[in-house]
Amino acid sequence: MVCIRQATVEDLLQMQRCNLLCLPENYQLKYYFYHVLSWPQLLYVAEDYDGKIVGYVLAKMEEESTEVHGHITSLAVARTHRKLGLATKLMTAAHRAMEEVFGAHYCSLHVRVTNRGAFHLYTETLGYKIHEVEDAYYADKENAYAMRKVFPTGEKAAAEKAAAAAEKAAADKQQPAEKAGAAARKGTKRR
Ligand SMILES: CC(C)(COP(=O)(O)OP(=O)(O)OC[C@H]1O[C@@H](n2cnc3c(N)ncnc32)[C@H](O)[C@@H]1OP(=O)(O)O)[C@@H](O)C(=O)NCCC(=O)NCCS
Repeated sequence: MVCIRQATVEDLLQMQRCNLLCLPENYQLKYYFYHVLSWPQLLYVAEDYDGKIVGYVLAKMEEESTEVHGHITSLAVARTHRKLGLATKLMTAAHRAMEEVFGAHYCSLHVRVTNRGAFHLYTETLGYKIHEVEDAYYADKENAYAMRKVFPTGEKAAAEKAAAAAEKAAADKQQPAEKAGAAARKGTKRR
C-alpha cells in the first residue's frame, strides 16, 4: 500500500536519493530545503508501507513573473512502482495546492523531447500543452518542451482579460465617432 502525503524536512534525503536513481538532473540538498521551507504545501511524496519514499514531486511558485504560476522542479517514481498512477496522484496534489493555496493561474514544467513516458503523463493524463521548444535546455544539449497546464482560475482570469480588452476596443472604436459628432455639433453652433 502506497500513500501520497505532503513531504516534510525528514523526507528530503530519501527524495534526493529517489531523484539520483531516476533522473540525470540532480540537486544539492540545500535546494530541497529551499523548496520545503518556501513552499511546504507543494512537495509531495509517495510512501510505501515500510516507510520508503518511492516517488516525489518537488514544486515551487514562480515569483518573478507577471502571472502567478507554479512550476514543477522535479518529478520521479521508483522503477519498481511505475505505471500505478503514483505520478498522476503526486502531480494532482501539487496542482491543487498551487491553485488553492497560492491562486496559481497555471503550472509550468520542462520535459526532454525524448521522454515519451513523462510526455504521455503530462499531455494525455494531466492536460498539459506545449508552450514552446527550448533548444539545448539540458546539460547534454537535448531540447526541452516547455509545457503549461492552465487551471480553472487561470482560464477565468484569461476570459476576464479578453472581455476587458474587447470592451476597451469597442469603446476606442466608438470614441472617434463621438468626437466627430461633437465637432460637427460645435461647428453647427458657430454658424
Ligand atoms: C514519468 C514518470 C514520473 C511516470 O510515473 P508513473 O507513476 O509511472 O506514472 P503514472 O502511473 O501516473 O502514469 C500516468 C500515465 O502515463 C503513462 N505512462 C507512464 N509511464 C509511461 C511510459 N514509460 N511510456 C508510456 N506511457 C507511460 C501511464 O500509462 C499513464 O497513462 P494513462 O493515464 O493514459 O493510463 C516515471 O516514469 C519516472 O519517474 N520516470 C523517470 C523520471 C522522469 O522522467 N521524470 C519526469 C521528468 S520531466
